[in-house]
Amino acid sequence: MMMKNRKTKLAYFSLSFCKICNFSSLCNLILVYFSIVKSVEFDLIQQSVHQRSGSDQKVIPTGCDGSVLLDDTVTLQGEKKASNNINALKGFRIIDRIKNRLESECPGTVSCADILTIAARDAVLLVGGPYWDVPLGRKDSKTAGYELSETNLPTADEGLLSIISKFIYQGLSVTDMVALSGAHTIGMARCVNFRNRIYGDFVATSGINSLTKQYLSNLKSVCPPLKGSENNESAMDYVSPNLFDNSYYQILLRGEGLINSDQELYSSIMAVQTKKLVAKYAENAIAFFEQFSESMVKLGNITNEDTYVNGEVRKNCRFVNT
Ligand code: HEM
Repeated sequence: MMMKNRKTKLAYFSLSFCKICNFSSLCNLILVYFSIVKSVEFDLIQQSVHQRSGSDQKVIPTGCDGSVLLDDTVTLQGEKKASNNINALKGFRIIDRIKNRLESECPGTVSCADILTIAARDAVLLVGGPYWDVPLGRKDSKTAGYELSETNLPTADEGLLSIISKFIYQGLSVTDMVALSGAHTIGMARCVNFRNRIYGDFVATSGINSLTKQYLSNLKSVCPPLKGSENNESAMDYVSPNLFDNSYYQILLRGEGLINSDQELYSSIMAVQTKKLVAKYAENAIAFFEQFSESMVKLGNITNEDTYVNGEVRKNCRFVNT
């Protein structure tokens, strides 16, 4: 039954693309693409929400405009090599493949920013998460924001209040922040992003029992205390790393969150409102799904006036049109 619903919803998504392009073959193609690229789904989601400056996450300064997809050129410094992004963002070739087919079937119609937003939604759906309607019609930026990428994205070791203020600055609420953080129910973090946590307050937040001890010792073997092994990865939700569910919040209740910023949502002394929300979503997956969907729409609707006026539909997501 569950599968049936998901298929129906996926078909519905394809149809909405058909309306744009009027090619049913294209719809099938998109379905096929999203089926064969499951291995990189997480990257797509992360990319659409961790885009430092130009994109779908308004922990992002300039709006949902595909700027993160731009490559470096002589005249443009892209965001991919910013310290927060390097080694973290992947999946660009999938966007290229989708874009190429869209351009060959209906040129100049679907922006890269729209592709990325839809890809994030469908990646969530394909791993068991909720569906939501994605409003379309975004334009692509003609610039990128390397400096903003360096400074504006929340980081793993950033304090709770600082992260909250970044979300609020972008028009997102504390509730949006806690629900959107639930995306960490899938995907991986690199050692460089959880070292301070596992050699820091992990024991204090989780308490000691044999299972936790074993988990922590595994993490330490993946991520040694001194420099090195920076890119070794561990799942952020060790219970069901490939499933979009609410186990991420249950892990936080046990004090076993992998990265500091996640565990702070529950364990920080400032975590008054966020703690209640974590407990609510840990108990009620439907409440989490509903709020996540709503917050993702909000996130994806953040626009930037300059791109709205001067933006374009790029022919190639990696380069501004000439
Ligand atoms: C609240 C502030 C947030 C912080 C501090 C944060 C931090 C991080 C960090 C440090 C990683 C690991 C990256 C790596 O080691 O390569 C990560 C991964 C990820 N994040 Fe976030 N994140 C935040 C919000 C979000 C939001 C709002 C979403 C989506 C709505 C999201 C989705 C993801 C996904 C899917 C991954 C896994 C990527 C993969 O497997 O490659 N994050 N995040």
